[in-house]
Amino acid sequence: MTHRKLVILGTGGTIAGTADHASINIGYTAAQVGIEQLLAGISGLGTDVDFTSEQVCQIDSKDMDFDIWDKLASRVNHFLADEEVQGIVITHGTDTLEETAYFLQIACRPAKPVVLTCAMRPATALTPDGPQNVLDSVTVARCPGASGVVVVCAGTVHSAFDVQKVHTYKVDAFNSGDSGPIGYVEEGRLRLLRNWPGSQNLHEPVAIHSEVVWPRVEIILSHAGASALWVQSLVKQGIRGLVVAGTGNGTVHHALLASLLEAQAAGIRVTRSTRCLDGRVMPIPGDSIADSKGLSPVKARIMMMLELMADDELALRAKVA
Ligand code: SIN
Repeated sequence: MTHRKLVILGTGGTIAGTADHASINIGYTAAQVGIEQLLAGISGLGTDVDFTSEQVCQIDSKDMDFDIWDKLASRVNHFLADEEVQGIVITHGTDTLEETAYFLQIACRPAKPVVLTCAMRPATALTPDGPQNVLDSVTVARCPGASGVVVVCAGTVHSAFDVQKVHTYKVDAFNSGDSGPIGYVEEGRLRLLRNWPGSQNLHEPVAIHSEVVWPRVEIILSHAGASALWVQSLVKQGIRGLVVAGTGNGTVHHALLASLLEAQAAGIRVTRSTRCLDGRVMPIPGDSIADSKGLSPVKARIMMMLELMADDELALRAKVA
């Protein structure tokens, strides 16, 4: 079977943003241009493949929520099930891009490429970066052997497992930390440096189920003068899980640590990640709180929510049986 189709899903972001003047690169409104219009303005997308586009949502990605993630995962699974579809490109805001990428990798575990892309400058900018990012994403999505969720920005291809937004303004705003990118797109060609995320079975598959609600999991930052108050208040509100963004190798201020251990003893799931951009929390025998296995705080939170949902689903099934 030859793959003849490529699907492009629009979700909003700066790539679809507009400003009053071409010189404006920050004072714009995100998520204004529809996906069809966006694609119509990009020449060189290729005529030897059928493009199907769909607007899944139209938001500034700072407002990403679970309903949209549910819908996005379901559209991704729907299109990937079509034998003729080679891959999917998703246009997305940069601010929560790494969260959606990781969520889709874990929830969908695609055997085909799912490429998230973005822009740091609005569509109306003098030199918008979105069109080239979309072209590069199409190159990646059409690459034989590509699999899993990746992010393409400024000619660099990042794995969903490693990618992080690291700059507030530069066009090359993403980084893969210690792992490095998985490749570069150069003049319409992919230079692959390491394996696709689809071949990295780092985690057990976690399915999402519409009958199960998303459990509340929050991220707490450890810092100078941290206290027990936030954790105690969240526990009172019925929180299911906590991810602590610790200092250095996942260390936690003693006052905050005491409250986290109390929460853990009360049955709340707790994980330690780090505020550091690079490196991972390395476990020490006897650690009282498990580490996040290399996941950043936002990704550790997603993993924890999906694990809790899987537990809830099992409990629900056991009740019905
Ligand atoms: C957003 O995340 O939707 C706005 C910011 C951006 O795309 O760069």
